[in-house]
Formats: sequence, C-alpha cells, structure tokens
Amino acid sequence: MVLLKIRNVTKIFGGLIALRDVSFDVNKPEILGLIGPNGAGKSTLFNIISGFHSADKGKIIFKDEEINGLRVDQIASSGIGRIFQEPTLFMQESVFENVFSGFHRRYREPVWKAVFYTSGAREEEVTKKKRALEILEFMDLISARDELAANLPHGRQRALAIAIALASEPDLLLLDEPVTGMNPSETMAMIEKIRRIRETGITVLIVEHDMRAIMSLCDRIVVLSLGIKLVEGPPDKIKEDERVIEAYLGKQVV
Ligand SMILES: Nc1ncnc2c1ncn2[C@@H]1O[C@H](COP(=O)(O)OP(=O)(O)O)[C@@H](O)[C@H]1O
Ligand SMILES: [Mg+2]
Repeated sequence: MVLLKIRNVTKIFGGLIALRDVSFDVNKPEILGLIGPNGAGKSTLFNIISGFHSADKGKIIFKDEEINGLRVDQIASSGIGRIFQEPTLFMQESVFENVFSGFHRRYREPVWKAVFYTSGAREEEVTKKKRALEILEFMDLISARDELAANLPHGRQRALAIAIALASEPDLLLLDEPVTGMNPSETMAMIEKIRRIRETGITVLIVEHDMRAIMSLCDRIVVLSLGIKLVEGPPDKIKEDERVIEAYLGKQVV
C-alpha cells in the first residue's frame, strides 16, 4: 500500500532550484532511504513533507489526501512525525517531560478540559504518562528519565528526539541524519531501534550519510543529486548504479 506520494515537487529558493520535479512513493511499512550529496535537497524535501516549507509546484499525498498547504501541526496530527538534522529538544526539561510533551502534538485537548480538570482529563493524563514511560523503555532511555535533556550525550539526545516523535503516534516517521555523529556501537544500536520501530508498523523515511547504515537498513533507496531524482531501487541496485557511483558514492561502498 502506498502511504505517501511525492508528485512532481519543485522548490526554488531565490534563483536556486533546490528540488526539480521530484516524484516517488513511500510504501507501508517500508524503510526508505533518501540519499545524495550535501545540498541535494533532502532536508528541503523533509521540510516540505512536514509543512515547514511549501512546494512551488507538485503535490504531497499522504493516506490518499493532499497535505500540501496544511499547517505543520495539522500534518503532525495526520500522522507524520519527524526528527530534525539539528536536535530540537527542550534542553532544560527532563527526558520524561520531553516525551510527555510530545503527546500534545497529536492530541489537542480542548481548553475546558484543562480548566476543569475532569476525571476524563485525569484518566487521559495517566494513560499518557504510562505511554511516555513505555516509549522511554523502548528507546532505552528509562534510566535517564529524570535527567535534563541538556545533560544527555549526543547519541542519547538523538534517541530522545525519536522518542518525542513516537509519542505523537505517527504512521510515517521522517528521520534526518539519525546516526550522524554517533560512534559505531551507538550507530548499531540505533539501526536496530529503527528496525524495531518499523516492526511496530511505522513506515520510515530516512536521510543519512552513513552508507553502511543506509545499505543495511533500507528496503529501497531514492537518490537525489542537485535537486533531481537520479534513481530509485533496492540497495544492491543502488550500489552498482554508475550514475550514483559517479555523483555520490565514489569508492565508498564499491
Ligand atoms: N531556507 C533556505 N533558503 C535558501 N536556500 C536554501 C534553504 N534551505 C535550503 N536551501 C538550499 O537548497 C539546497 C538544498 O539544501 P538541503 O535541502 O538542505 O540539502 P541536503 O539536506 O540534501 O544537504 C542547498 O543549495 C541549500 O543551500
Ligand atoms: Mg540536510
């Protein structure tokens, strides 16, 4: 089943064409890698999918509905979670509070509920707390739940960013460079986590420069170069594609 359709997306910044007529599908539940040299347009495409930028041309169709033009929070509520290339944590809040606040991106409570603090609201609060703890457990962050986000090492901050995104119960998770800056054992652990996230039925679209991680993790890969889709296919095909080797991979994996 096709979960997300990118159709003829074009984005121009000033005179620079960041994306030119890019089209591809993301199927449920696959792990799709989006790779390409710096400046290829990968983050721009993530920004367009999640509503931070608008496309100058083309359509984004998620669960059979056009989402281009919707606000960031509406897109998040429709089931798209993301982590950014730069960490965006509440550094002065605890690990637990960071994940707990992630729920509000999906479940907007009416104001009266908060004002009167009904038993319904209280129950919801208990459920959210329980769920936040489950997510922390899943991401191996439970022992750090009372630490300030600012005090976590880099790798754990990336895990926390994913935990926050999971709290919004996404159908599609956009991961922008989740293992960049991690040591090999942190990278391995994160790859394993991403596999497990997919096993829970969540579709993953991932941008990452770590070619080993990408090749071992992804079902399919889309290659962008200078805003144009060069090729898409399974990792084995991508590794051998002459255009990809020339534009991007060099001698890294061959
Ligand atoms: N907000 C912006 N304003 C102007 N130019 C931008 C903006 N965001 C990205 N670009 C440009 O668009 C191109 C694609 O950038 P980006 O999507 O960040 O690439 P990638 O994530 O593949 O490295 C680059 O040339 C970049 O300088
Ligand atoms: Mg980028």
